[in-house]
Amino acid sequence: MKRPYSYIAGTGHAVPARVVTNDDIAAMGLETNDAWIIERTGIRQRHIAAPGESLTSLCAEASRQAMAKAGVQPGEIDTIICGTASPDHLLPSQAVEVQTALGCSRAAAFDVASACSGWLYGAIVGDSMIASGAADTVLVIGAEKLSAIVDWTDRNTCILFADGAGATVLRRAKGEKKDRGILSTFMRSDGALAELLWRPAGGGAEPYSADAATGKRHFIHMAGREVFKHAVRSMAEATDRALDTARITAADVDLLIPHQANIRIIEATAKHAGISMEKVFVNVDRFGNTSAASIPIALNDAMEQGRVKEGSTVLFAAFGAGFTWGSLVVRF
Ligand code: UT7
Repeated sequence: MKRPYSYIAGTGHAVPARVVTNDDIAAMGLETNDAWIIERTGIRQRHIAAPGESLTSLCAEASRQAMAKAGVQPGEIDTIICGTASPDHLLPSQAVEVQTALGCSRAAAFDVASACSGWLYGAIVGDSMIASGAADTVLVIGAEKLSAIVDWTDRNTCILFADGAGATVLRRAKGEKKDRGILSTFMRSDGALAELLWRPAGGGAEPYSADAATGKRHFIHMAGREVFKHAVRSMAEATDRALDTARITAADVDLLIPHQANIRIIEATAKHAGISMEKVFVNVDRFGNTSAASIPIALNDAMEQGRVKEGSTVLFAAFGAGFTWGSLVVRF
């Protein structure tokens, strides 16, 4: 197969200013504590939106950074893809709100609903659009305001999930960039297991109602232990498939950037892939699990720390509700 078609020309991220520590959550009256959360998840703190702080504003800030680094003007963006499970509005898409905020008047804009795999799925769609000739420049965002759809009395979920946005600009690989970019892609889903991590109410099947509010069925419900097992298994498949398709081995990987769900899932993924933890990027301790935003936030964080340089080969792996999972190998 002819590759690469596209490369990552710029990255950015934005998180709310408000930091919520594990002690802050315990102080809300939940039966939990800092030591348990750190040991079982690796999370020390997360960023949570202030009242009235919109997802659109986080997306726009992350996107402006990514576009500035890519040297791309709003009018040059052909497509905006936003991976999210917690948009500001259910209709229309989060992506069109971002389009308006950025002034990308030429773009087609739409959301990708694949939960924590949202940015990765979006990047694969964007790469495919560039490969087909449908677009030259695609803004791919992963963004969540999960604090709005989390039950703050459920210690199984509210300790994990957090808010933030990450953005990347994908551009057509040409000229001297021809050997840089997305070297392989892999994506997979299994809807049979949807109810292990879902929002039972709020959609057409069970519209939001006062009863739903009492039962809290419009919040995220998660069977944590079951999800954990599937996450480990699926992330292992994802890393295997990305390396095979790119025809490289773990030794060729300079950095693994996995979805930041839980440090124990990250460690299991690295161990399976045969990649030492020194070559794994971890920021779940500072940001918690920001679902679709976690990988693009981690990528921008890694770039700012100098851990991704020109020529670096980076393996990305994601897993989320659906279930959905996937991976990418990118040479920078
Ligand atoms: O983003 C992609 C999708 N999401 C994920 O990948 C998340 C996957 N799941 C997880 O990360 C973990 O399952 C959790 C962090 C949610 C839970 O950790 P765990 O080690 O699987 O805990 P558990 O659910 O098996 O519970 C162990 C014990 C239980 O007590 P008993 O029954 O042993 O007495 C829980 O009631 O820990 C208790 N527990 C807690 N204790 C203090 C559960 N949550 C908490 C808590 N604080 N927040």
